[in-house]
Amino acid sequence: MTLLPNPTTIPSPFNLRTRATDAGSGSSNVDYAYLRQLVFEQSQNVLDPSRDYLFETRLSRLLRNQGLTQIEELIQLLRLKHDQALERAVAEAMTINETSFFRDGRPFELLRTELLPTLLESRRITRSFRIWSAACSTGQEAYSIAMLLSEHFPQLAAWNVKIEGTDICTEVVHRSQTASYHRIEMNRGLPARNIVRFFDHHGEDWMVKPDLRKLCNFRVTNLCADRLPFAEPFDIVFLRNVMLYFSQETRKKLLSNVHRLLAPDGLLFLGSSEQPADPSLWTATLAGGTCYYRPRKPS
Ligand SMILES: C[S@@+](CC[C@H](N)C(=O)[O-])C[C@H]1O[C@@H](n2cnc3c(N)ncnc32)[C@H](O)[C@@H]1O
Repeated sequence: MTLLPNPTTIPSPFNLRTRATDAGSGSSNVDYAYLRQLVFEQSQNVLDPSRDYLFETRLSRLLRNQGLTQIEELIQLLRLKHDQALERAVAEAMTINETSFFRDGRPFELLRTELLPTLLESRRITRSFRIWSAACSTGQEAYSIAMLLSEHFPQLAAWNVKIEGTDICTEVVHRSQTASYHRIEMNRGLPARNIVRFFDHHGEDWMVKPDLRKLCNFRVTNLCADRLPFAEPFDIVFLRNVMLYFSQETRKKLLSNVHRLLAPDGLLFLGSSEQPADPSLWTATLAGGTCYYRPRKPS
C-alpha cells in the first residue's frame, strides 16, 4: 500500500506528520512517510515511496553537518525540535536540480526566429522587457535566455531588460548568483561561440561575464507560497520541469498566480511533458516542435 504515490490524489497537507504507516523501498525501520510528508509541507513536492532509497544519499551531507549517522536520528531530532531551518534543509536536499544550458532547445529557437521579434516590436515604446525563469535551479536557463537576447537582439542593450531567476533551494540560487560553471556543465548544450563570447575561463571553471550577469537577478522563492514576490508583470515566463513534482491542486494554484503575473500578450513555456492544470486559462500554440501558452481572459 502507498500513502502519497499519485500527485493528483495527494491528501491535504493537514494530514499531520505522525508515524510511518507504509513501507517504501528504503531501509525498513525508517519512517519515510514522515519525511515525505515533511517535504510536501515545505515544498509541495510529492515524493513516491518507490524512491525512498533516495533519502539515504540526499540526506547524507545534512546528517554529517548535524553530527548524525542515521536517518532515524535525524527524524528524532526533527520531531523533537520542530526546527524550521532543519525542515527546510531536508526539503531542499530532496529537490531535483537537473538542468542545462539551452535545455530542450526548441523554445529558444522559436523565440529567436518568431516570437521575440513580434513581442519586442510591441514593446518598442516602453523599452522594458521582463522574463522569469521560475524554478531556475543553478541558473543555466536564465543565462541561456540572456545569451539569446544579447546575441540576437543587440538593440536591447538600450532597453531596461531583467531576467528574474527563482528557486526554492538556497544552494542552487547561490550557485546561480556565483555564475560559475564546471567544464562538464559547459559541455552540455552550449555552442562554442557562446563560450568564447559570454564566459571567462578560470581553471576548470567558466564564469559568466559581467555584462550578461547584470541582466539576471536570482532569489529564493517558493513557487507554492500564497504570494509570489513580484508585482510587475512578466513578458515571458519559463516554468519548466518543476510542476511534475507537484499535486494537481498545487499546479492549479501556481498557474493561476502565473496567469496574474503575465502580460496579456505574454508567453508561458512549460516543460515538454507538462501542461496547464486549468486549460481554460490558456491558449496553447504548437510551433517549431514545441508548445507555448498565452493567457486567456478568465471568463
Ligand atoms: C528539474 S529542475 C528544473 C530547472 C529548469 N527549470 C530546467 O528546466 O532546466 C527543478 C527545480 O525546481 C525547484 N523547485 C522544486 N520545488 C519548488 C518550489 N516549491 N518552489 C520553487 N522551486 C522549486 C528545484 O529546487 C529544482 O531546482
